Amino acid sequence: MERLAEAPIGVFDSGLGGLTVAREIMRNLPMEKIVYFGDTARVPYGNKSRDTVIRYSRQIMRFLKTQDIKAIVIACNTATAYALDVIQEEAGIPVLGVIEPGARMAVRSTKNHQVGVIATRATVSTHVYTDTIARMDPEINVISQACPLLVPLVEEGWVHDSVTQEVLLRYLDDLLAHDIDTLILGCTHYPLLRSTIHRLIGDRVTLVNPAYETALELEKLLKDTGLMNNTPRAKDEPTPYRFYVSDDAERFADFANSILPIDVKQARMVRIEEY
Ligand code: DGL
Repeated sequence: MERLAEAPIGVFDSGLGGLTVAREIMRNLPMEKIVYFGDTARVPYGNKSRDTVIRYSRQIMRFLKTQDIKAIVIACNTATAYALDVIQEEAGIPVLGVIEPGARMAVRSTKNHQVGVIATRATVSTHVYTDTIARMDPEINVISQACPLLVPLVEEGWVHDSVTQEVLLRYLDDLLAHDIDTLILGCTHYPLLRSTIHRLIGDRVTLVNPAYETALELEKLLKDTGLMNNTPRAKDEPTPYRFYVSDDAERFADFANSILPIDVKQARMVRIEEY
């Protein structure tokens, strides 16, 4: 069990967004190793069908399992919404998604029982946040807004651009009219827009970033399953974080360097469709 506890955690997303989850794992669980896969060749997932997202997620799970991981974090709301059950059933190791942790945080945060969710079209179409929150507290009203333009803007690096602000205002308009006091950033790309969103809507709405909650839930899961790594890292140990992508490794590494608290030397290419 001790050896297994030293194994890395597999984290995956359609692209860059899952790095916001990896970042929280690095901050909150510094002993844990990570193997990250970003499906940069096939991003975005948010306007693809359920079958396609399940097929992609299965391929990624098979690839990650070749890396001798001890658990998987699906650091993508869309893949969590469509594929969590399938991956949990097939992986043979613990698998965590990002939706339950984010929903739980929103339930704790709202005072007026009006919660907004921004997410991809796919995530919104599953009603997964509405259903999950209804199970936790049926009194809460959930208003969801699909924001299909945000992922391409984030992947383009336009997080502070005036075009992005304009697009955000359009998307947020209806939610604000419902007097929400809590807003779930229901796509792992969106925490990268956090300061822009905050500037637009101010302090009256609490922004929920499921990435942080997911890291805390991962800690609990690792403790409960005896998989927490308590072995301090040896000085000469190679980097505990490895990054893989399906396209444009250089661009990914540049972006990862701009948001992670570590020096990402490289990302490696994987032919994911072969898994
Ligand atoms: N970052 C992903 C999510 O949390 C998916 C974005 C996309 O690929 O459309 O939903």
